[in-house]
Amino acid sequence: MERIITPIELWEDSNSLSLRPTSLKEYIGQEKVKKRLDIFIKAAKSRNEALDHVLLYGPPGLGKTTLANIIATEMKGELKVTSGPAIERAGDLAAILTTLNNNDVLFIDEIHRLNRSVEEILYPAMEDYVLDIVIGKGAAAKSIRLDLPKFTLIGATTRIGMLTSPLRDRFGVLCDMQYYTVEELKEIIIRSSFVLNCNITEEGAYEIAKRSRGTPRIANRLLKRVRDYAQVYSDSLITTKEANEALNLLEVDNMGFDRVDNKILEAIIDNFNGGPVGIETLSYFIGEELGTVEDVYEPYLLQTGFIVRTARGRVATDKAYKHLGRIKNSNQEKIGEQQKLF
Ligand SMILES: Nc1ncnc2c1ncn2[C@@H]1O[C@H](COP(=O)(O)OP(=O)(O)O)[C@@H](O)[C@H]1O
Ligand SMILES: [Mg+2]
Repeated sequence: MERIITPIELWEDSNSLSLRPTSLKEYIGQEKVKKRLDIFIKAAKSRNEALDHVLLYGPPGLGKTTLANIIATEMKGELKVTSGPAIERAGDLAAILTTLNNNDVLFIDEIHRLNRSVEEILYPAMEDYVLDIVIGKGAAAKSIRLDLPKFTLIGATTRIGMLTSPLRDRFGVLCDMQYYTVEELKEIIIRSSFVLNCNITEEGAYEIAKRSRGTPRIANRLLKRVRDYAQVYSDSLITTKEANEALNLLEVDNMGFDRVDNKILEAIIDNFNGGPVGIETLSYFIGEELGTVEDVYEPYLLQTGFIVRTARGRVATDKAYKHLGRIKNSNQEKIGEQQKLF
């Protein structure tokens, strides 16, 4: 089922390419990442060299693909886009590599899903800009080496832990993408409103930002839905009132939680005595797929401190009790205390 608060790209997001900032200056937030890239880009340019390979990692919807586009533009190279699962055989990667020119950027999304034989082609390509290919079979097989242009590989992953260390070690620039603050999201929403030509007050933007789960992709999606609501109900101007009403209608609460987030918290508190409860048990209990709970719901509940992860499972925090208007009994208090020792 498609959910409005999923950070994963939906069809409705893909027709809003114009919302993508095209330069580092326009790119809001991620100050550390931006600063690092700005320095490396300037240095590479002044030496007239290709930018070192860049690894962008962090949750979906935080602007990794956008950054890859910006880097290619700043380096005045062309961007070639592919993904880990799309490159099935070593030959597929070889074919892509031989189409590159100096300063081009090869963007491999979901790079943790590359298979081993493909990865091995990538090592010498990244390190020495060469391509080793084997021609023929058996005793007649010959290995030949081709020179590649000085390109930049940008890898993106939501699962840095699944990357092999030889691959990870070959990236010179590692960028850890963080969830955005409400203020940053507000700025993004105001910028997007401008691009979409819709009227919004600062408070209206703030209200949407608060419910966007730290994620620009969600912020833009919510903005578009609120815009539709405002168009029908209030002469197209988005104020706190329209934002509030539209988002309540969409069942996105004031923390950006939807029904499933709340169901998770309720289950932990009401059915598992506040926790600890294993993520598999919990997913099964609320009738949601484990993968969805792990990728969409849990990261945000952890990030906002509504649940904590312990050795024996997930535990609801005071914030969760308060959010649901539940009172913690002393027994649960004790379990909570014990959990902190892990
Ligand atoms: N820093 C930012 N400033 C403004 N808009 C952003 C920013 N980061 C992401 N976005 C918006 O969010 C959407 C999702 O970003 P994207 O680069 O596709 O994320 P990812 O590749 O990490 O999943 C983009 O279409 C863009 O409109
Ligand atoms: Mg992406």
